[in-house]
Amino acid sequence: VLLKDTTTGGGAVSEDKRALGSYYSPEPYARALVQWALNGRIGSVTDPSYGGCAILRVAIEQLTELGAERPTELVFGSDVDDGTAQWAAHLISKGVPREHLRSADFLSLTPGVDLPLTRAVVGNPPYVRHHRLTASARTRAVAAAAAAGVALSGRASLWAYFVVHAARFVQPGGRMALLLPGAVMQVDYAPVLLDHLEERFEDVLLVRVRERIFPDAGEETVVLLASGARAVGKPSRRRYADVNDLADLLQLLARPTAPAPRAEPVMDGVSDWKRRLLPPGCLDILTKVLAAAETRRLGDVARISLGTVTGANATFVLTDDQADRLAVRAHTVPVVTRSASLTGPVLCHAGFNGWQRRLLTLPADFPLDRRTRLGRYLTAAEAEGVHERHHCRREPWWALGEVAVPDAFLAYMMAAPRGIALNGASASSTNTVHQVQWRVRPSVEQERSWAVTSWSSLGQVCAELYGRHYGGGVLKLELAAARQLPVLDLAISETAWRTCQRDGDRAQQVADAALLGMGLGLTVADLQVLNDAAATLSASRAGRPREMATAIAEGSEWGDAALA
Ligand SMILES: C[S@@+](CC[C@H](N)C(=O)[O-])C[C@H]1O[C@@H](n2cnc3c(N)ncnc32)[C@H](O)[C@@H]1O
Repeated sequence: VLLKDTTTGGGAVSEDKRALGSYYSPEPYARALVQWALNGRIGSVTDPSYGGCAILRVAIEQLTELGAERPTELVFGSDVDDGTAQWAAHLISKGVPREHLRSADFLSLTPGVDLPLTRAVVGNPPYVRHHRLTASARTRAVAAAAAAGVALSGRASLWAYFVVHAARFVQPGGRMALLLPGAVMQVDYAPVLLDHLEERFEDVLLVRVRERIFPDAGEETVVLLASGARAVGKPSRRRYADVNDLADLLQLLARPTAPAPRAEPVMDGVSDWKRRLLPPGCLDILTKVLAAAETRRLGDVARISLGTVTGANATFVLTDDQADRLAVRAHTVPVVTRSASLTGPVLCHAGFNGWQRRLLTLPADFPLDRRTRLGRYLTAAEAEGVHERHHCRREPWWALGEVAVPDAFLAYMMAAPRGIALNGASASSTNTVHQVQWRVRPSVEQERSWAVTSWSSLGQVCAELYGRHYGGGVLKLELAAARQLPVLDLAISETAWRTCQRDGDRAQQVADAALLGMGLGLTVADLQVLNDAAATLSASRAGRPREMATAIAEGSEWGDAALA
């Protein structure tokens, strides 16, 4: 057996595996990448982090099939994990020169010195997040990127440095094929990375694979296919594609894909691959609506912030009964703890869906008597170490300080886009639900129009476009994304408002008809395009386990756990 476990499926992820980002490539994918990179010609191949050596092994196989005389002498690679020595030893026993396989940190190797430049670089860089990197590993990574003239943000994961450094090991005219985490389409340092690749290669294609190739890595996979390596050049065409599985990928590699659509300034911050998913005409409609005089962005009219960070929701979030039993009702406020409580443009007590909770807001000078029920309750929490938690470090730990009662709420993580809910319950929220505070007090009409817009087809499409995919098909609306959401300065009738204020679906109908249709002049066909776009974007998050998305929407503790 030449391969370590290439199935990667199921099971717990060991600490070592996480620390080294060791998610070995399934052999069929290794074969597809090597085949594309060799492009039917005999040439040398490097895998910057060979792991179980799947890629180098299929390279030797394919070079043999292509008629290479000494295929084992054409493969090169490195790996930092001592545990991979046995797989390297196996290749050496088959004829690969020992010096071709370096047991080293790839980011410390100099191209053309420690390893040669090769026709193809094929790999699956380690998926290790920045906070897991040791200081020395980070220093080497930053130096390697700097040598290529690239400065990635301090939060860049190890794979990003690998991409930059690996490109330097490709011979002029050669190809690079890498399996990358889906983050390459979303992270803030992606533009720097991708711009660099465009300079270094004549053609760059990113293919998002819907099937989970590495189920335990918690990330989807994007295949990077870069061809025509060069020292530096005019930025090339970057192309995007989406495939379901390996069969689709193989088909795609056999034919050229369509050019990327034109970027629109109103869509700044939206990934190109999402733009590509939009149905025909949608970009024009969005451009028209987002550039309209009546359209503003939520961030322009409101300050949006994270909900209250208690550090221990289990202690601070009480049921009504608990509040009464502890005799602290006077020192509590209603609190929204679930995005699923936001079911329409107004959150009122009845709108909590039976999940209304109360947040313990004791003042710092509260005369806490340890003999009372409340005193014993807090003492019990201390016995569990709650007061020593990072987010509970305040004096005294049980006094949250100022707790905001915002003008409105906005979902943070959700299964399907939800709009703004005006705060009709004088409630606060935990950090699972964003808080919205108007910059300048709007008129009643304005406030209603803003809230209702966010439930429209336009609001849904924009939430999908600006939001991020999170594990389990969840849509995550970070603060920066929330600020981009459009709000319309129009008005809806009192009757329409009454029918939809507690019902998100009705609000969508009202918003589409009254605001987008009558207000902005969109036709029924235009609205259909927006609806289709929302459905397509939402479906692009599917194909993963839905349990987490549903759990968050339905209000299980998972929502909180995911944020912990
Ligand atoms: C995702 S696995 C890929 C292995 C193999 N290329 C494949 O496709 O199956 C990543 C590999 O990177 C290795 N690795 C992690 N950090 C490294 C570094 N700084 N230099 C070289 N290899 C490294 C890990 O030991 C692991 O074998």
